[in-house]
Amino acid sequence: MADILGNMRKTHNCGELGIEDVGKEVILMGWVQRRRDHGGVIFVDFRDREGLTQIVFNPEENQAVHEKAHVIRSEFVLGVRGIIRKRPEGMINPKMKTGMIEVMVTELKILNTAQTPPFQIEDGIEVSETIRLQNRHIDLRRPKLSENIITRHKTSLTVRNYLNKHGFLDIETPFLTKSTPEGARDYLVPSRVNEGCFFALPQSPQLFKQLLMIGGFDRYYQIVRCFRDEDLRADRQPEFTQIDLEMSFVGEEDIMAIAEGMMEIVFKEVLGKDVKIPFNRLTYDVAMDKYGLDKPDLRFGLELTDISDIVKNTGFKVFADVVKKGGMVKALNAKGCADFSRKEIDDFTTFVAIYKAKGLAWIKVKENEWQSPIAKFFSDDEKEMMAKKINMEKDDLVLFVADRPQIVNEALGNLRNLIAEKKNLIDRNEFNFVWVTHFPLFEYDEAEQRYTSVHHPFTAPMEDDYQNLSDNPLAVKSRAYDLVLNGSEIGGGSIRIHDREIQEKIFSVLKMDKAEYENKFGFLLSALESGAPPHGGMAFGFDRLVMLLCGQPSIRDVIAFPKTQRAGCLLTDAPSKATPEQLNELSLRVVTQ
Ligand code: AMO
Ligand code: AMP
Repeated sequence: MADILGNMRKTHNCGELGIEDVGKEVILMGWVQRRRDHGGVIFVDFRDREGLTQIVFNPEENQAVHEKAHVIRSEFVLGVRGIIRKRPEGMINPKMKTGMIEVMVTELKILNTAQTPPFQIEDGIEVSETIRLQNRHIDLRRPKLSENIITRHKTSLTVRNYLNKHGFLDIETPFLTKSTPEGARDYLVPSRVNEGCFFALPQSPQLFKQLLMIGGFDRYYQIVRCFRDEDLRADRQPEFTQIDLEMSFVGEEDIMAIAEGMMEIVFKEVLGKDVKIPFNRLTYDVAMDKYGLDKPDLRFGLELTDISDIVKNTGFKVFADVVKKGGMVKALNAKGCADFSRKEIDDFTTFVAIYKAKGLAWIKVKENEWQSPIAKFFSDDEKEMMAKKINMEKDDLVLFVADRPQIVNEALGNLRNLIAEKKNLIDRNEFNFVWVTHFPLFEYDEAEQRYTSVHHPFTAPMEDDYQNLSDNPLAVKSRAYDLVLNGSEIGGGSIRIHDREIQEKIFSVLKMDKAEYENKFGFLLSALESGAPPHGGMAFGFDRLVMLLCGQPSIRDVIAFPKTQRAGCLLTDAPSKATPEQLNELSLRVVTQ
């Protein structure tokens, strides 16, 4: 079969040519972005993944090639040979990287035709994400998306080089495995050979990396896919990628130092930015107290204040009753925001209701008075104490939620972010990293009536808290740490348990009996008895990190083939039904409910 390319091979990328190349003969391969006919001369914006170059078909210079160029349309695939020349005065395009030059085509090969694309291959186009995802192969040609994918590559390359330099080995771990609990549901894969049995896809390589430490590989890393069946959001995908690492013979400080060094080099190499290390640290308790969230965005202030003490006996029953029942009242002082309208405050009330807040009380601080539906209920003393503690000044808008601490913090913490967004308090060029430490080891799950792990069950408790494990599990702090960047949790890890007895104790606090934990984690328990070194590590959400590096709002923008909110792939239509034969082989029957 004749080879359509013949001996034509690309010599340059479209985006890289400049004035210094004038006079050179080049061969380019790519796609037609746009074709314009100017009185006989045909101009084409010619594109490959690195950018655009203008190519020119001029009948006066080459009649035959110009003749051939008439049929070309958007997205046709071409190979062109030509000479680079400086554009005539007046045709220079300062907006294009290659706007000083153009390629006078001397040979044209039409390598393929193309249907009219379903949308313009340009940034900033008005097209639904559904259509973009259905045509992802075309969407990937858009400049910003292809730039994101290239940034992703650069980031992983930088990370690999850095970790290699620090003695980490890249070791693969299985995908067809047993459940590794990280708080989500498992994706199960039926085994044909073992009837009625299932593999679970890993929620993370957590247990395998610990087994690698026990196996003697004291510095491990992997840029690895993880699978979690959970409710999806802009920063969550059912399959996502972690930079996963683990080290033996270390404490928290060693792992944090490796992580900080990694961020420093990534931001330098990928964005040319200097980030200041070491990063700031906040304990979990302080983060919750001041910001309401364990992933606070510290690019702006707007701190929260607990006023439960001041209002515990107030005439405003809503507040007093909540405090008496063991709840709390917190205030968010939106400094200088008294110009928010009633309608906007109503919208905030609807917003906090998402987090189950039953209301949103407010005070606008005016020249000599408080404008507020609730001010009349407070005594002068209470008013004075509130004004002082919340630092209320003229033109402030103070917003209050009274409820269980979890609801108060979530509602006001998220409202804090929303108000910063609305008031433009966020410097988009800032990268604000903070470590959050001293997490509780457990939380209580009301629905299941049991304790669950805040991180995962293999996280070590603080040694000082061992004595609380039996009687007061909620008081036990863990040796876990999260890394937060601009309000997004980009990584987390911990020092692990390397002692069988403590691991068994944790399982029992989690209400697993011996039979259950032996069945699920017997292999880990016996490994812990085989000479397990002290160890710890962490994992970065690679997609989230790249999303922030690219300044994108969603991790879908940095994943070549992402899934939708309903965990499906619009391009391939996965997931899809299995045939009766496939189900039979797997001894499965689908029961529709
Ligand atoms: P964790 O569950 O905190 O820790 O995950 C580590 C990081 O992975 C990212 N992440 C996600 N990104 C996209 N989509 C998701 N569904 C998703 N879930 C998590 C977050 C998070 O910080 N084995 C432990 C790590 C360890 O202890 O070493 C773990 O998986 O950025
Ligand atoms: P009500 O007495 O229910 O009319 O509420 C008076 C004001 O208090 C309204 O602005 C409500 O939004 C607000 N409010 C009601 N419940 C709460 C709550 N749990 N926390 C904060 N504000 C509340």
